[in-house]
Amino acid sequence: MARVIGIFSSKGGVGKTTLAINLAASMSYDFGKKVCLVDTNLSCASLGIHLGLHLNPTNINMVLRGESDLDEVLVRHPSGMTVLPASIQLKESLTEQSKLPEIIKDLKKDYDFVFLDTAPTVGNETLWAMHTVDEGIIVTDSTMPSLVEAIKISKMAEKYRVRILGVIVNKNMKKGLTLDEISYFTRLNLLGELPMDQRVNDSIRHHMPAVHNLPRSKISQEIRRISASILGQEYNVPLVEKFFNLLGVN
Ligand SMILES: Nc1ncnc2c1ncn2[C@@H]1O[C@H](COP(=O)(O)OP(=O)(O)OP(=O)(O)O)[C@@H](O)[C@H]1O
Ligand SMILES: [Mg+2]
Repeated sequence: MARVIGIFSSKGGVGKTTLAINLAASMSYDFGKKVCLVDTNLSCASLGIHLGLHLNPTNINMVLRGESDLDEVLVRHPSGMTVLPASIQLKESLTEQSKLPEIIKDLKKDYDFVFLDTAPTVGNETLWAMHTVDEGIIVTDSTMPSLVEAIKISKMAEKYRVRILGVIVNKNMKKGLTLDEISYFTRLNLLGELPMDQRVNDSIRHHMPAVHNLPRSKISQEIRRISASILGQEYNVPLVEKFFNLLGVN
């Protein structure tokens, strides 16, 4: 039975989709887990765009509408994970989501992990995602507006009894709020910290998770460490990565 983990923030653009993709790809490729990654951000779906699946003829919207079965819409990604993209069409952006918990319950039987990319809202879309997941990860950057949304979404998670594994600070430029401040104000433990790295956008352009496109980067190392910590394992940085870190060429 899969652990179902939502990647949450009601602030747009903090890196939910990037993190969902990379955690899922790392869990699958580096840790050999059976992983399904699902886009539940129907109003502004972008998972398919990040992974080059935006022209895929099938999507979660079809299953939500009862037009297709799950096994007709799941897409296998080269990383080993399975992906369930959402439609990017405007007319599909308000697709009714009440069947989401049922769909994910069906998926749970076949995977070790199901990751949900979620919408930047405290509205309906996030509500359905909260009803669906067992666990969550909150993403923020180090700015005050994002922190405020991180606090709001963590309160919402508490209300819907979603166990939050921690907060990930993404795009950290070491200029804004400190990691201690973010952890203190959200009352969450720090699950990880990813630096701002412009090459992340190249990965999206190449439709590849950063963990594959930039395997030695600080971002990829941190993603692998976070995956290990979700599994309750310690991540030992391989010697070759320590060497690259020492040379500052990661
Ligand atoms: N660590 C990083 N360094 C540099 N750029 C990043 C990093 N993480 C994400 N980005 C960039 O930030 C932008 C927003 O990322 P992403 O789409 O993952 O955010 P999001 O929270 O899912 O947004 P939305 O709320 O709109 O769904 C993208 O262009 C992505 O390439
Ligand atoms: Mg997104």
